[in-house]
Amino acid sequence: MQRDFKIAPSILSADFARLGEEVESVIQCGADFVHFDVMDNHYVPNLTFGPVICESLRNYGIEAPIDVHLMVEPVDRLISDFAKAGATYISFHPEATEDISTTLNLIKEEGCKCGLAINPDTPLSFIEDHLESIDIITMMSVFPGFAGQSFIPEVLDKLTSTRQMIDDSNRDIYLEIDGGVKADNIGDIAKYGADVFVSGSGIFGTEDYQKTIDSMRDNLSAA
Ligand code: DX5
Ligand code: ZN
Repeated sequence: MQRDFKIAPSILSADFARLGEEVESVIQCGADFVHFDVMDNHYVPNLTFGPVICESLRNYGIEAPIDVHLMVEPVDRLISDFAKAGATYISFHPEATEDISTTLNLIKEEGCKCGLAINPDTPLSFIEDHLESIDIITMMSVFPGFAGQSFIPEVLDKLTSTRQMIDDSNRDIYLEIDGGVKADNIGDIAKYGADVFVSGSGIFGTEDYQKTIDSMRDNLSAA
């Protein structure tokens, strides 16, 4: 059966001076989610953007789900701001919060869908313990902090195990892969069980977004 694959361009590689247009353009070219990488110069050694930019995208007219990936520590204080700014999904790194269940509940209480982001060296036990409460798992295929890194192939085994865990749970949980995804490896990655594909430089770093997203779709249908 053909799975319902989602393409989630990471705006980290967009032209920030023309952010509204850039996001509108990838959505018109067939992207499904807007991946929104929040970095705080503390949990990761880089600094990006916060809730006001998310709100600006909503005010600009972006209606697609916004998938907020928090690479921040602490986490809880930011959740309500992102919910008010129009976030759809909010994911965080379990190591970055004091109590994972409290943070997941906060996200849900604010009316958003919640997720956990798992670094290449983070054990899967973190998600196993919270499978009953989460809507999305962000499997990192690079160490968080920067766009344009190479996909770490060792993560593919974790992807397979996580897919199995999700299927066994009978819950509707997205399995997102984040880092180093491009048109030329997306089909292979899909075979390991991912169904949401974040791509920053792999989309915004190319000349023709339509051509890139079409080629991603072709490679996904062949997977
Ligand atoms: C890494 C971020 C990713 C990254 C994706 O810390 O979470 O979303 O920006 O960028 P590419 O696709 O260029 O690896
Ligand atoms: Zn991300």
